Amino acid sequence: MSEVSMEKLVSLAKRRGFIYPGSEIYGGLAGTWDYGPLGVELKQNIQNLWWRKVVSEREDIYGVDAAILMNPKVWEASGHVSGFTDPMVECKKCKKRFREDHVEGDNCPACKGELSEARQFNMMFKTHFGATEDSSTEVYLRPETAQGIFTNFKNVMDSFSPKLPFGIAQIGKAFRNEIAPRDFIFRAREFVQMEMQYFIHPSSRKEVYEDWRKFAWNFLVNDLSIDEKKLAWHEHTEDERAHYAQAAHDIYFKFPHGSKELWGTHDRSDFDLKSHTGGSGTELVYRTPDGEKFIPHVIESSVGLGRMILAVLTDAYNEKDDRVWLSFKPSIAPYKVAVFPLMRNKPELVLKAREVYDSIKKYIPNTLWDDNGNVGKRYRRQDEIGTPFCVTVDFEALEGEGVTVRDRDSMKQERVKLEDLEEYLKNKLNG
Ligand code: GAP
Repeated sequence: MSEVSMEKLVSLAKRRGFIYPGSEIYGGLAGTWDYGPLGVELKQNIQNLWWRKVVSEREDIYGVDAAILMNPKVWEASGHVSGFTDPMVECKKCKKRFREDHVEGDNCPACKGELSEARQFNMMFKTHFGATEDSSTEVYLRPETAQGIFTNFKNVMDSFSPKLPFGIAQIGKAFRNEIAPRDFIFRAREFVQMEMQYFIHPSSRKEVYEDWRKFAWNFLVNDLSIDEKKLAWHEHTEDERAHYAQAAHDIYFKFPHGSKELWGTHDRSDFDLKSHTGGSGTELVYRTPDGEKFIPHVIESSVGLGRMILAVLTDAYNEKDDRVWLSFKPSIAPYKVAVFPLMRNKPELVLKAREVYDSIKKYIPNTLWDDNGNVGKRYRRQDEIGTPFCVTVDFEALEGEGVTVRDRDSMKQERVKLEDLEEYLKNKLNG
Protein backbone atom coordinates (compact mmCIF):
# COMPACT_ATOMS: atom_id res chain seq x y z
CA MET A 1 0.00 0.00 0.00
CA SER A 2 1.66 3.28 -1.05
CA GLU A 3 1.29 6.59 0.74
CA VAL A 4 0.14 9.31 -1.59
CA SER A 5 0.62 13.06 -1.47
CA MET A 6 -2.36 15.39 -1.84
CA GLU A 7 -0.72 16.90 -4.96
CA LYS A 8 -0.70 13.51 -6.67
CA LEU A 9 -4.33 12.85 -5.80
CA VAL A 10 -5.48 16.30 -6.95
CA SER A 11 -3.58 15.88 -10.19
CA LEU A 12 -4.91 12.38 -10.90
CA ALA A 13 -8.45 13.43 -9.99
CA LYS A 14 -8.33 16.29 -12.49
CA ARG A 15 -6.42 14.52 -15.25
CA ARG A 16 -8.70 11.51 -15.26
CA GLY A 17 -11.98 13.34 -14.80
CA PHE A 18 -12.89 12.62 -11.18
CA ILE A 19 -12.84 16.10 -9.63
CA TYR A 20 -12.17 19.54 -11.10
CA PRO A 21 -11.74 22.88 -9.32
CA GLY A 22 -15.07 24.77 -9.33
CA SER A 23 -15.47 27.61 -11.91
CA GLU A 24 -11.96 26.85 -13.12
CA ILE A 25 -12.03 28.86 -16.36
CA TYR A 26 -12.75 31.98 -14.26
CA GLY A 27 -9.85 31.34 -11.92
CA GLY A 28 -11.86 29.13 -9.58
CA LEU A 29 -13.92 29.79 -6.45
CA ALA A 30 -12.20 28.70 -3.25
CA GLY A 31 -13.78 25.75 -1.50
CA THR A 32 -15.90 24.60 -4.46
CA TRP A 33 -15.30 21.49 -6.54
CA ASP A 34 -17.01 19.96 -9.56
CA TYR A 35 -17.31 16.22 -10.02
CA GLY A 36 -16.38 15.04 -13.51
CA PRO A 37 -17.71 11.96 -15.33
CA LEU A 38 -15.77 9.47 -13.20
CA GLY A 39 -16.26 11.38 -9.96
CA VAL A 40 -20.01 11.37 -10.45
CA GLU A 41 -20.04 7.59 -10.84
CA LEU A 42 -17.85 7.08 -7.78
CA LYS A 43 -19.97 9.50 -5.76
CA GLN A 44 -23.22 7.83 -6.77
CA ASN A 45 -21.88 4.36 -6.05
CA ILE A 46 -20.78 5.39 -2.56
CA GLN A 47 -23.94 7.28 -1.69
CA ASN A 48 -26.12 4.46 -3.03
CA LEU A 49 -24.22 2.00 -0.87
CA TRP A 50 -24.70 4.19 2.21
CA TRP A 51 -28.42 4.61 1.41
CA ARG A 52 -28.82 0.88 0.92
CA LYS A 53 -27.21 0.07 4.27
CA VAL A 54 -28.86 2.88 6.22
CA VAL A 55 -32.32 3.00 4.64
CA SER A 56 -33.23 0.31 2.10
CA GLU A 57 -32.00 -2.76 3.96
CA ARG A 58 -33.64 -1.70 7.23
CA GLU A 59 -37.22 -1.49 8.40
CA ASP A 60 -36.73 1.24 10.95
CA ILE A 61 -35.21 4.09 8.94
CA TYR A 62 -37.08 6.45 6.63
CA GLY A 63 -35.52 8.64 3.96
CA VAL A 64 -36.31 12.31 3.31
CA ASP A 65 -35.06 14.97 0.95
CA ALA A 66 -35.76 18.34 2.55
CA ALA A 67 -35.41 21.79 0.99
CA ILE A 68 -32.02 23.45 1.40
CA LEU A 69 -33.63 26.81 2.18
CA MET A 70 -35.50 26.68 5.46
CA ASN A 71 -37.42 29.19 7.54
CA PRO A 72 -34.69 31.22 9.32
CA LYS A 73 -36.39 30.49 12.65
CA VAL A 74 -35.09 26.92 12.24
CA TRP A 75 -31.53 28.17 12.61
CA GLU A 76 -32.38 30.36 15.57
CA ALA A 77 -33.98 27.43 17.40
CA SER A 78 -31.21 25.01 16.43
CA GLY A 79 -28.59 27.32 17.93
CA HIS A 80 -26.76 27.85 14.65
CA VAL A 81 -27.39 31.62 14.49
CA SER A 82 -25.73 32.13 17.84
CA GLY A 83 -23.41 29.15 18.07
CA PHE A 84 -22.24 27.98 14.66
CA THR A 85 -19.06 29.99 14.68
CA ASP A 86 -15.33 29.61 14.31
CA PRO A 87 -12.79 31.96 15.90
CA MET A 88 -11.28 34.12 13.17
CA VAL A 89 -8.25 36.41 13.14
CA GLU A 90 -7.45 39.02 10.48
CA CYS A 91 -4.04 40.26 9.40
CA LYS A 92 -3.86 44.02 9.96
CA LYS A 93 -1.41 44.34 7.03
CA CYS A 94 -2.61 42.09 4.17
CA LYS A 95 -6.22 41.70 5.46
CA LYS A 96 -6.17 37.93 4.97
CA ARG A 97 -8.36 36.00 7.40
CA PHE A 98 -7.51 32.75 9.16
CA ARG A 99 -9.13 30.38 11.59
CA GLU A 100 -7.41 31.11 14.86
CA ASP A 101 -6.81 27.42 15.56
CA HIS A 102 -5.09 27.01 12.17
CA VAL A 103 -2.46 29.67 12.90
CA GLU A 104 0.75 28.89 14.73
CA GLY A 105 2.29 31.83 16.57
CA ASP A 106 1.08 35.45 16.68
CA ASN A 107 1.82 36.57 13.14
CA CYS A 108 0.12 36.29 9.76
CA PRO A 109 1.21 33.07 8.01
CA ALA A 110 1.13 34.88 4.64
CA CYS A 111 3.00 38.17 5.31
CA LYS A 112 4.07 37.96 8.96
CA GLY A 113 1.93 41.04 9.71
CA GLU A 114 0.24 41.57 13.06
CA LEU A 115 -2.97 39.62 13.63
CA SER A 116 -6.15 41.06 15.12
CA GLU A 117 -7.85 39.73 18.23
CA ALA A 118 -9.96 36.66 17.46
CA ARG A 119 -13.66 37.23 16.85
CA GLN A 120 -16.41 34.70 16.33
CA PHE A 121 -17.35 34.30 12.67
CA ASN A 122 -20.69 32.69 11.80
CA MET A 123 -20.20 30.10 9.08
CA MET A 124 -23.70 30.13 7.61
CA PHE A 125 -24.11 31.56 4.12
CA LYS A 126 -26.90 34.11 3.83
CA THR A 127 -29.08 34.90 0.88
CA HIS A 128 -32.45 36.58 0.25
CA PHE A 129 -35.68 35.09 -0.90
CA GLY A 130 -38.03 37.09 -3.10
CA ALA A 131 -37.32 40.46 -4.65
CA THR A 132 -36.71 42.56 -1.55
CA GLU A 133 -33.28 42.53 0.00
CA ASP A 134 -33.72 43.49 3.63
CA SER A 135 -33.33 41.62 6.89
CA SER A 136 -36.92 40.31 6.69
CA THR A 137 -36.08 38.27 3.58
CA GLU A 138 -32.79 36.88 4.85
CA VAL A 139 -32.45 33.09 4.69
CA TYR A 140 -29.52 30.75 5.20
CA LEU A 141 -28.11 27.93 3.12
CA ARG A 142 -28.25 24.98 5.50
CA PRO A 143 -24.94 24.19 7.20
CA GLU A 144 -26.06 20.64 8.06
CA THR A 145 -28.78 18.42 6.63
CA ALA A 146 -29.83 17.29 10.12
CA GLN A 147 -32.29 20.16 10.68
CA GLY A 148 -34.37 19.12 7.65
CA ILE A 149 -34.77 15.80 9.45
CA PHE A 150 -35.87 17.32 12.78
CA THR A 151 -38.39 19.59 11.07
CA ASN A 152 -39.89 16.52 9.38
CA PHE A 153 -39.99 14.39 12.53
CA LYS A 154 -43.71 15.06 13.04
CA ASN A 155 -44.54 14.53 9.36
CA VAL A 156 -42.90 11.11 9.33
CA MET A 157 -44.58 10.22 12.64
CA ASP A 158 -47.97 11.27 11.27
CA SER A 159 -47.53 9.43 7.95
CA PHE A 160 -46.04 6.17 9.20
CA SER A 161 -46.73 5.95 12.98
CA PRO A 162 -43.33 4.33 13.55
CA LYS A 163 -42.51 2.82 16.93
CA LEU A 164 -39.38 3.94 18.74
CA PRO A 165 -36.58 3.46 18.03
CA PHE A 166 -36.63 4.65 14.45
CA GLY A 167 -34.50 6.86 12.27
CA ILE A 168 -34.72 9.40 9.47
CA ALA A 169 -31.92 9.74 6.94
CA GLN A 170 -31.02 12.28 4.32
CA ILE A 171 -28.30 12.85 1.73
CA GLY A 172 -27.90 16.39 0.52
CA LYS A 173 -25.88 19.53 0.10
CA ALA A 174 -24.63 21.54 3.04
CA PHE A 175 -22.89 24.91 2.92
CA ARG A 176 -20.37 26.41 5.30
CA ASN A 177 -18.53 29.66 4.81
CA GLU A 178 -15.30 28.08 6.01
CA ILE A 179 -12.72 30.74 6.86
CA ALA A 180 -10.00 28.64 5.29
CA PRO A 181 -11.26 25.97 2.88
CA ARG A 182 -8.32 23.70 2.20
CA ASP A 183 -6.93 20.25 1.59
CA PHE A 184 -8.80 19.56 -1.66
CA ILE A 185 -12.35 18.30 -1.00
CA PHE A 186 -11.62 17.72 2.70
CA ARG A 187 -12.74 21.18 3.78
CA ALA A 188 -15.06 22.69 1.20
CA ARG A 189 -17.63 25.48 1.37
CA GLU A 190 -20.23 23.42 -0.46
CA PHE A 191 -20.35 19.68 0.18
CA VAL A 192 -22.68 16.72 0.54
CA GLN A 193 -23.58 15.21 3.89
CA MET A 194 -25.03 11.77 4.55
CA GLU A 195 -26.84 12.00 7.87
CA MET A 196 -29.12 9.84 9.95
CA GLN A 197 -30.90 10.80 13.15
CA TYR A 198 -32.02 7.86 15.26
CA PHE A 199 -34.85 8.69 17.67
CA ILE A 200 -34.78 6.73 20.91
CA HIS A 201 -35.98 6.48 24.47
CA PRO A 202 -33.29 8.15 26.61
CA SER A 203 -32.75 4.92 28.54
CA SER A 204 -31.09 3.32 25.48
CA ARG A 205 -28.69 6.18 24.69
CA LYS A 206 -25.44 4.44 25.51
CA GLU A 207 -26.23 1.20 23.72
CA VAL A 208 -27.56 2.86 20.54
CA TYR A 209 -24.61 5.25 20.48
CA GLU A 210 -22.24 2.27 20.51
CA ASP A 211 -24.26 0.56 17.74
CA TRP A 212 -23.92 3.56 15.43
CA ARG A 213 -20.22 3.91 16.17
CA LYS A 214 -19.82 0.28 15.14
CA PHE A 215 -21.97 0.81 12.06
CA ALA A 216 -19.69 3.60 10.81
CA TRP A 217 -16.53 1.59 11.39
CA ASN A 218 -17.93 -1.52 9.70
CA PHE A 219 -19.18 0.45 6.73
CA LEU A 220 -15.70 1.82 6.08
CA VAL A 221 -13.92 -1.47 6.61
CA ASN A 222 -16.37 -3.98 5.14
CA ASP A 223 -18.43 -2.07 2.60
CA LEU A 224 -15.68 0.22 1.29
CA SER A 225 -12.74 -2.12 2.10
CA ILE A 226 -10.78 0.74 3.66
CA ASP A 227 -7.63 -0.41 5.43
CA GLU A 228 -8.50 -0.56 9.14
CA LYS A 229 -4.98 0.49 10.07
CA LYS A 230 -5.69 3.94 8.63
CA LEU A 231 -8.67 4.48 10.94
CA ALA A 232 -8.72 5.63 14.54
CA TRP A 233 -11.28 6.81 17.09
CA HIS A 234 -11.22 10.31 18.47
CA GLU A 235 -13.49 11.18 21.37
CA HIS A 236 -14.38 14.85 21.58
CA THR A 237 -13.41 16.69 24.73
CA GLU A 238 -16.01 19.02 26.18
CA ASP A 239 -14.35 21.99 24.45
CA GLU A 240 -14.46 20.33 21.04
CA ARG A 241 -18.10 19.26 21.13
CA ALA A 242 -20.66 21.11 19.00
CA HIS A 243 -23.28 23.11 20.88
CA TYR A 244 -25.89 20.33 20.46
CA ALA A 245 -23.72 17.33 21.43
CA GLN A 246 -23.48 15.61 24.80
CA ALA A 247 -20.99 13.08 23.46
CA ALA A 248 -19.17 12.76 20.14
CA HIS A 249 -16.82 10.20 18.65
CA ASP A 250 -15.19 10.78 15.28
CA ILE A 251 -13.56 8.21 13.10
CA TYR A 252 -10.30 9.70 11.94
CA PHE A 253 -8.76 8.59 8.64
CA LYS A 254 -5.12 8.93 7.67
CA PHE A 255 -5.55 11.46 4.83
CA PRO A 256 -2.49 12.67 2.91
CA HIS A 257 -2.50 15.80 5.13
CA GLY A 258 -2.69 13.80 8.36
CA SER A 259 -5.10 11.81 10.49
CA LYS A 260 -8.34 13.86 10.48
CA GLU A 261 -12.06 13.65 11.07
CA LEU A 262 -14.01 11.58 8.58
CA TRP A 263 -17.25 10.44 10.25
CA GLY A 264 -18.99 11.60 13.42
CA THR A 265 -21.35 9.83 15.79
CA HIS A 266 -23.06 12.27 18.14
CA ASP A 267 -25.37 12.02 21.09
CA ARG A 268 -27.61 15.05 20.50
CA SER A 269 -29.83 14.24 23.51
CA ASP A 270 -33.27 15.88 23.20
CA PHE A 271 -31.62 19.19 22.30
CA ASP A 272 -33.04 19.54 18.79
CA LEU A 273 -36.61 18.33 19.22
CA LYS A 274 -36.89 20.37 22.43
CA SER A 275 -35.51 23.48 20.73
CA HIS A 276 -37.87 23.12 17.77
CA THR A 277 -40.82 22.47 20.05
CA GLY A 278 -39.95 25.77 21.74
CA GLY A 279 -39.17 27.60 18.50
CA SER A 280 -42.14 26.45 16.42
CA GLY A 281 -44.80 25.87 19.08
CA THR A 282 -45.38 22.40 17.57
CA GLU A 283 -45.04 19.62 20.09
CA LEU A 284 -42.36 17.19 18.87
CA VAL A 285 -43.00 14.30 21.20
CA TYR A 286 -43.53 10.57 21.20
CA ARG A 287 -46.36 8.77 22.98
CA THR A 288 -45.88 5.15 24.00
CA PRO A 289 -48.85 2.77 23.67
CA ASP A 290 -49.21 2.89 27.49
CA GLY A 291 -49.50 6.64 27.54
CA GLU A 292 -45.97 7.81 28.38
CA LYS A 293 -45.18 11.06 26.57
CA PHE A 294 -41.63 12.32 26.11
CA ILE A 295 -39.26 14.07 23.74
CA PRO A 296 -37.14 11.38 22.06
CA HIS A 297 -33.39 11.62 22.29
CA VAL A 298 -31.28 11.47 19.15
CA ILE A 299 -28.16 9.60 18.17
CA GLU A 300 -26.73 11.04 14.99
CA SER A 301 -24.49 9.46 12.37
CA SER A 302 -23.00 12.13 10.12
CA VAL A 303 -20.44 11.90 7.36
CA GLY A 304 -19.36 14.08 4.47
CA LEU A 305 -19.55 12.33 1.12
CA GLY A 306 -16.57 14.32 -0.21
CA ARG A 307 -14.44 13.29 2.75
CA MET A 308 -15.47 9.70 2.21
CA ILE A 309 -14.46 9.96 -1.46
CA LEU A 310 -11.12 11.48 -0.46
CA ALA A 311 -10.58 8.61 2.00
CA VAL A 312 -11.48 6.05 -0.67
CA LEU A 313 -9.15 7.67 -3.23
CA THR A 314 -6.31 7.87 -0.70
CA ASP A 315 -6.77 4.29 0.39
CA ALA A 316 -7.10 2.91 -3.15
CA TYR A 317 -4.03 4.70 -4.51
CA ASN A 318 -1.13 2.40 -5.37
CA GLU A 319 2.10 3.21 -7.14
CA LYS A 320 4.95 0.94 -8.15
CA ASP A 321 7.70 1.99 -10.54
CA ASP A 322 5.75 3.94 -13.15
CA ARG A 323 2.45 2.10 -12.64
CA VAL A 324 -0.37 3.80 -10.74
CA TRP A 325 -3.55 1.96 -9.95
CA LEU A 326 -6.64 2.63 -7.87
CA SER A 327 -7.70 -0.59 -6.17
CA PHE A 328 -11.36 0.35 -5.67
CA LYS A 329 -13.67 -2.35 -4.48
CA PRO A 330 -15.47 -3.35 -7.74
CA SER A 331 -18.87 -2.30 -6.35
CA ILE A 332 -17.77 1.34 -6.17
CA ALA A 333 -15.44 1.52 -9.19
CA PRO A 334 -16.73 4.04 -11.76
CA TYR A 335 -16.29 1.49 -14.54
CA LYS A 336 -16.32 -2.23 -13.90
CA VAL A 337 -14.99 -3.45 -17.25
CA ALA A 338 -13.15 -1.92 -20.21
CA VAL A 339 -13.21 -3.58 -23.63
CA PHE A 340 -10.55 -3.08 -26.31
CA PRO A 341 -9.76 -4.45 -29.73
CA LEU A 342 -6.09 -5.50 -29.71
CA MET A 343 -5.49 -3.16 -32.67
CA ARG A 344 -7.83 -0.44 -33.76
CA ASN A 345 -6.75 -0.46 -37.41
CA LYS A 346 -7.98 -4.04 -37.99
CA PRO A 347 -11.70 -3.75 -38.85
CA GLU A 348 -12.40 -7.43 -38.11
CA LEU A 349 -10.98 -7.03 -34.56
CA VAL A 350 -12.89 -3.79 -33.99
CA LEU A 351 -16.12 -5.39 -35.20
CA LYS A 352 -15.72 -8.39 -32.90
CA ALA A 353 -14.68 -6.19 -29.96
CA ARG A 354 -17.77 -3.99 -30.51
CA GLU A 355 -19.92 -7.12 -30.42
CA VAL A 356 -18.31 -8.19 -27.13
CA TYR A 357 -18.65 -4.66 -25.71
CA ASP A 358 -22.34 -4.42 -26.68
CA SER A 359 -23.11 -7.75 -25.08
CA ILE A 360 -21.23 -6.99 -21.80
CA LYS A 361 -22.85 -3.55 -21.59
CA LYS A 362 -26.26 -5.22 -21.47
CA TYR A 363 -25.47 -6.98 -18.20
CA ILE A 364 -22.79 -4.63 -16.81
CA PRO A 365 -23.88 -1.14 -17.87
CA ASN A 366 -20.74 0.56 -16.52
CA THR A 367 -18.57 -0.97 -19.23
CA LEU A 368 -16.24 1.27 -21.17
CA TRP A 369 -15.02 1.12 -24.77
CA ASP A 370 -11.37 2.11 -25.13
CA ASP A 371 -9.38 1.99 -28.36
CA ASN A 372 -7.03 4.94 -27.79
CA GLY A 373 -3.29 4.28 -28.04
CA ASN A 374 -1.79 0.83 -27.71
CA VAL A 375 -2.93 -1.89 -25.30
CA GLY A 376 -0.20 -1.02 -22.78
CA LYS A 377 -1.41 2.59 -22.60
CA ARG A 378 -4.99 1.45 -22.25
CA TYR A 379 -4.11 -0.79 -19.30
CA ARG A 380 -2.33 2.10 -17.63
CA ARG A 381 -5.30 4.39 -18.17
CA GLN A 382 -7.77 1.84 -16.83
CA ASP A 383 -5.50 1.13 -13.84
CA GLU A 384 -5.42 4.82 -13.05
CA ILE A 385 -9.20 5.08 -12.99
CA GLY A 386 -9.55 1.83 -11.06
CA THR A 387 -11.33 -0.34 -13.65
CA PRO A 388 -11.16 -3.86 -12.18
CA PHE A 389 -11.17 -5.82 -15.48
CA CYS A 390 -9.99 -5.22 -19.04
CA VAL A 391 -11.25 -7.46 -21.82
CA THR A 392 -9.06 -7.60 -24.94
CA VAL A 393 -10.32 -8.97 -28.21
CA ASP A 394 -7.35 -10.37 -30.16
CA PHE A 395 -6.88 -12.57 -33.24
CA GLU A 396 -7.52 -15.74 -31.24
CA ALA A 397 -10.94 -14.35 -30.36
CA LEU A 398 -11.72 -14.34 -34.08
CA GLU A 399 -10.87 -18.05 -34.15
CA GLY A 400 -13.41 -18.73 -31.39
CA GLU A 401 -10.77 -19.00 -28.65
CA GLY A 402 -12.39 -16.41 -26.41
CA VAL A 403 -11.03 -13.12 -25.09
CA THR A 404 -8.37 -12.25 -22.52
CA VAL A 405 -9.50 -10.78 -19.20
CA ARG A 406 -6.88 -8.88 -17.23
CA ASP A 407 -7.20 -8.33 -13.51
CA ARG A 408 -6.26 -4.77 -12.39
CA ASP A 409 -4.66 -5.78 -9.08
CA SER A 410 -2.73 -8.94 -10.02
CA MET A 411 -2.23 -7.91 -13.69
CA LYS A 412 -2.82 -11.60 -14.52
CA GLN A 413 -4.58 -12.39 -17.77
CA GLU A 414 -6.92 -15.29 -18.34
CA ARG A 415 -8.46 -16.47 -21.56
CA VAL A 416 -12.22 -16.81 -21.22
CA LYS A 417 -14.62 -18.30 -23.76
CA LEU A 418 -17.29 -15.88 -24.89
CA GLU A 419 -20.06 -18.16 -23.70
CA ASP A 420 -18.53 -18.13 -20.18
CA LEU A 421 -17.75 -14.43 -20.06
CA GLU A 422 -20.95 -13.19 -18.41
CA GLU A 423 -20.73 -15.64 -15.51
CA TYR A 424 -16.98 -15.11 -15.19
CA LEU A 425 -17.24 -11.32 -14.93
CA LYS A 426 -20.27 -11.36 -12.67
CA ASN A 427 -18.58 -13.79 -10.27
CA LYS A 428 -15.39 -11.76 -10.21
CA LEU A 429 -17.23 -8.47 -9.68
CA ASN A 430 -19.38 -9.83 -6.89
CA GLY A 431 -16.58 -11.83 -5.27
N1 GAP B 1 -25.01 17.28 11.74
C1 GAP B 1 -23.78 17.15 12.41
C2 GAP B 1 -22.68 17.79 11.72
O1 GAP B 1 -22.88 18.49 10.74
P1 GAP B 1 -20.09 18.02 11.68
O2 GAP B 1 -19.04 17.30 12.47
O3 GAP B 1 -20.03 19.52 11.66
O4 GAP B 1 -21.48 17.51 12.25
C3 GAP B 1 -20.34 16.17 9.90
O5 GAP B 1 -20.09 17.51 10.19
C4 GAP B 1 -19.43 15.66 8.80
O6 GAP B 1 -19.56 16.50 7.64
C5 GAP B 1 -17.94 15.71 9.14
O7 GAP B 1 -17.55 14.56 9.86
C6 GAP B 1 -17.32 15.75 7.76
O8 GAP B 1 -17.25 14.44 7.21
C7 GAP B 1 -18.32 16.57 6.97
N2 GAP B 1 -17.90 17.98 6.86
C8 GAP B 1 -18.03 18.95 7.78
N3 GAP B 1 -17.55 20.11 7.32
C9 GAP B 1 -17.08 19.89 6.08
C10 GAP B 1 -16.48 20.69 5.09
N4 GAP B 1 -16.26 21.98 5.26
N5 GAP B 1 -16.13 20.12 3.90
C11 GAP B 1 -16.36 18.80 3.69
N6 GAP B 1 -16.94 17.98 4.59
C12 GAP B 1 -17.31 18.51 5.78
